[in-house]
Amino acid sequence: MPKVTFLPANQTFEFETGKLPYHEHGLPESLLDIAINNGFNLEHACGGNCACTTCHVVVKAGAENLSEEEDDEADRCETAADYQVGSRLGCQAIVKGDVTVMIPAWNRNYISEGGASILGDAIPPPKNKMNFGH
Ligand code: FES
Repeated sequence: MPKVTFLPANQTFEFETGKLPYHEHGLPESLLDIAINNGFNLEHACGGNCACTTCHVVVKAGAENLSEEEDDEADRCETAADYQVGSRLGCQAIVKGDVTVMIPAWNRNYISEGGASILGDAIPPPKNKMNFGH
């Protein structure tokens, strides 16, 4: 059974290929589909339609266990704020074996209707508070 680990939360989910209920967000058995099935908060502002970059993840291990990146995904993914080697879109990358991905801080900081940011209080406050003379 493939295992997916999301960092930095360090949460791992296992699933049986072909048995995952599909919730119509992203491709079936994509990283996003697995996250949703396990109540894990991976952003997906466009509903998993390859039209935003809020599901952006960076693959840390097991890249060969993900589906090949299609042109649509590559074009969209390149527009992610912190695009880098290993970048994939969670809604498009289908899991075929064990994989570990990092959710970039840019996306962790984003709050959805599904719950609070998984980074929570770990986001430090700004160092210099601005004084507007009030
Ligand atoms: Fe929008 Fe993946 S959820 S591109």
